[in-house]
Amino acid sequence: MNILVIGSGGREHALGWKLRQSKQCGKLFFAPGNGGTASIGKNVSLNADRVDTKTVDAIDYFCRHNDVGLVVVGPEDPLAGGLVDRLEQMQSRHGGDKVPRVVFGPVQAAARLEGDKAFAKKLMRAASIPTAEARIFTDAQAALAYVKNRETPVVVKAAGLAKGKGVIVCDDSDQAEAAVRTIMIDRAFGDAGDTIVVEERLIGQELSVLALVDGRNIFVLDPAQDHKQLGEGDTGPNTGGMGAYCPTPLISDKLMGQIQREILVPMVDTLRREGIIYRGVLYAGLMLTAGGPKVLEFNCRFGDPETQALMMRLKGDLVQIMLATMQGRLDEVDLSWNRRCCCCVVMASGGYPGSYEKGKPITGIDEANGLDGVQVFHAGTALKNDQVVTAGGRVLNVCALGSDLADAQERANAACEHIRFDGAYFRRDIGYRVMKVKQ
Ligand code: AMP
Ligand code: GLY
Repeated sequence: MNILVIGSGGREHALGWKLRQSKQCGKLFFAPGNGGTASIGKNVSLNADRVDTKTVDAIDYFCRHNDVGLVVVGPEDPLAGGLVDRLEQMQSRHGGDKVPRVVFGPVQAAARLEGDKAFAKKLMRAASIPTAEARIFTDAQAALAYVKNRETPVVVKAAGLAKGKGVIVCDDSDQAEAAVRTIMIDRAFGDAGDTIVVEERLIGQELSVLALVDGRNIFVLDPAQDHKQLGEGDTGPNTGGMGAYCPTPLISDKLMGQIQREILVPMVDTLRREGIIYRGVLYAGLMLTAGGPKVLEFNCRFGDPETQALMMRLKGDLVQIMLATMQGRLDEVDLSWNRRCCCCVVMASGGYPGSYEKGKPITGIDEANGLDGVQVFHAGTALKNDQVVTAGGRVLNVCALGSDLADAQERANAACEHIRFDGAYFRRDIGYRVMKVKQ
């Protein structure tokens, strides 16, 4: 089966790497891909960040002419824009394709769970899913008046998609007022900030719980934790993620059962009552508070960089798993985990998450890949005259399997030492929080 993966990050490289291992995988294409995906498949110059007629026509045409049987949509923007629905509509309009096409990911109405935080909050309330107390505002003055008088810290969130940057965690009411102004008056995230969610600031460890949902069955994947802050010891500004590890001992089987029963199942059921059938990955970003796990956000896709750590450990055939998810047959597939632990360290460009330079030549990736248990996924790279160069803020995801987290972290850090590019930065302490607890 020929496969097209939409996206260009480390998540897409990791998904492609795992899909490639399937006996069923024929030609593998990435749209647009990166410097790493080019070595396991073919990059095609299609970009699906905006889902308009031109993009949909181009992807549909490509799929028909290359006998693509599976399209995997990685990032949130095309999902929120309805790419899954549109590609399915095109298929039924043309009919009679040689190869029937499965598109992996939720439909637009379901992807709204990530693309509209106010909608998600309302659904969580309706389903009594534990989450931070929140108020929703569409009027800046009303929001300012509300945060002015709050005595406890809040988090101000643009309701729409803002490339992961639309959440401002505030210490006091001055910061909260500034956050409301940034989002609603300065419109730092454009239309995404027309509506905001102001919620209580929760305290605890964060955890990512991803599940495959086939409309009926839910299969919860091993829990992962990512490190969003730039500096070691979780200091400095928030980023798209500086590293992740999986599994995490933070959580018992009993707690995982509770998360499935009280959070994932009720959300899928509530959507169904709204007439929305969820198929794809449902990702709950959680805070483990003193009062139990509470939802910070739902995402409608694989997490980045959690997926890199998950794919390193996943046993089973990802092509079959994805087809089964979209065809309501999850109960038929074999899905288990390598017992080893994975640590994924993000190597970033100097200056990230602020401004940074691109085009720096990268060396040492092959040496790192040669180390036992190590796999380097590319995130923000490109090929320039056959040389891999930096092309983004988060450049590489250096993953290592180890007997335990400390071993995996040591191996990943050692692999990073082999890789060089001008201004390279990475955290050496991914996973430190739970390693401290264990000691
Ligand atoms: P989100 O995109 O909603 O997950 O928010 C991004 C990050 O902001 C989360 O990973 C948390 O670190 C932080 N955050 C979001 N909501 C809260 C909250 N209610 N309390 C504390 N931190 C939060
Ligand atoms: N790792 C956080 C996310 O994918 O949203």
